[in-house]
Amino acid sequence: MKLFLQNYKEKIYITGGSSLKGMVKVSGAKNAALPLMALSLILNKGLTLLNMPDLADTRLMSKLLIQLGININWTYGKAEFDGHPQVNEASYDLVRQMRASILVLGPLLASLGSARVPLPGGCAIGARPIDLHLFVMESLGANIKYDSGFIIASVGSEGLKGGVIDFPKISVGATESAIMTAVLAKGVTKILNAAHEPEIIDLAKCLTSAGANIKGAGTSTIIINGVKKLNPVCHDIVPDRIEAGSFAIASAITKGNIEINNIRPNDLEFFLQTLKYTGSKVIINKNSVIVSSSKRPIAYNITTEAHPGFPTDLQAQYMALMSIADGNCYVKETIFENRFMHVPELLRIGANITIDKQTATIKGVKNLHASKVMASDLRASMSLILGALVASGTSEIDGIHHLDRGYEKIEDKLSNLGAIINRSK
Ligand code: UD1
Repeated sequence: MKLFLQNYKEKIYITGGSSLKGMVKVSGAKNAALPLMALSLILNKGLTLLNMPDLADTRLMSKLLIQLGININWTYGKAEFDGHPQVNEASYDLVRQMRASILVLGPLLASLGSARVPLPGGCAIGARPIDLHLFVMESLGANIKYDSGFIIASVGSEGLKGGVIDFPKISVGATESAIMTAVLAKGVTKILNAAHEPEIIDLAKCLTSAGANIKGAGTSTIIINGVKKLNPVCHDIVPDRIEAGSFAIASAITKGNIEINNIRPNDLEFFLQTLKYTGSKVIINKNSVIVSSSKRPIAYNITTEAHPGFPTDLQAQYMALMSIADGNCYVKETIFENRFMHVPELLRIGANITIDKQTATIKGVKNLHASKVMASDLRASMSLILGALVASGTSEIDGIHHLDRGYEKIEDKLSNLGAIINRSK
């Protein structure tokens, strides 16, 4: 596997106006892959992940695991992990680049009895504290201290002990931390107010195949009976529902007709229903959906919610669609306090959007026009691509390293559907 160096100078150029048509295969989910990869720190006898997406974030997580002592053999969509963590300190240079690095804290603690993990970085969408992850560790008997930007977690000679983790707020990552840390803790752990996301169910499925005892993943209450050891496991990563939703919007916004394959439509139920309300035709099959449209979308209000509500990770892309809608609507963001950074850039290509606190009001316009724009985070970058696909002229999108964190082979996939898209090297 070739490890990457992010190229901050690359730009994407899109000439708008093509109607996207054809079939596209969705990759494995980034948000499922990252916690699954962190499991290699406790699955010492072996973990194989199939449908593994090749992304900047999964490469970064690989680097971090290798730095911690895990061996990785990753070719195409298959990654094999083995070995035991050799050090308890995660590299600052790696962790600062990706917020999801915090997911190694619990498994390191479970494996070695102590961990030193720097405070993480990642997408600039709000303050994004990690207090709930630390709450998990403390609820399972760990001591937490801070030293020069590092979290230092340790457990006594008795190791981690099961306990009640009653989350004051729903968090996807902290629920994953709780599951990964509790599976090898002594006794029973009860997780209350757990997140329901499909990626959490996928994590629990993989761990259960490895011999863990987890009940209730996908509901608000998860009960874990700690086991002494886990067995080797091979797991197929769940498809990326956010990538699938982004292609669905690409079809709707370009008056296209795209068959989106290798997905689980149930994971996108709320979103697909919303797309129907905006006037798109949506045909749902077992492992695919066909989204098509022949007219301007109809304006329709949304509020982002924890799963199974409208996903915050599709909010920016949906806003691009609503920019050209017939009518006015609002988009309310309830998960992150600073997730409208794509708005000033959408304005550059002609959208009419105003923001009041957590609510954006969008007055639909008939046409967008090409411009130079800057991606500020992962999903914002996709919203700019979607806007550029219908804007007249050629747009230049900067900040593309954000896009590479979460969309595998995106230019190839879009150009196969008929988009005029190029990347400058
Ligand atoms: C995950 C996803 C991200 C998605 C988000 C919400 C991954 C790798 N990323 O992020 O794509 O947008 O879920 O669906 O899976 N919070 C705290 N304290 C904490 C942790 C979170 O206050 O310790 C807050 C956050 O600031 C945010 C809210 O809880 O306001 C939800 O965040 P969370 O569900 O934890 O998101 P992530 O797991 O970081």
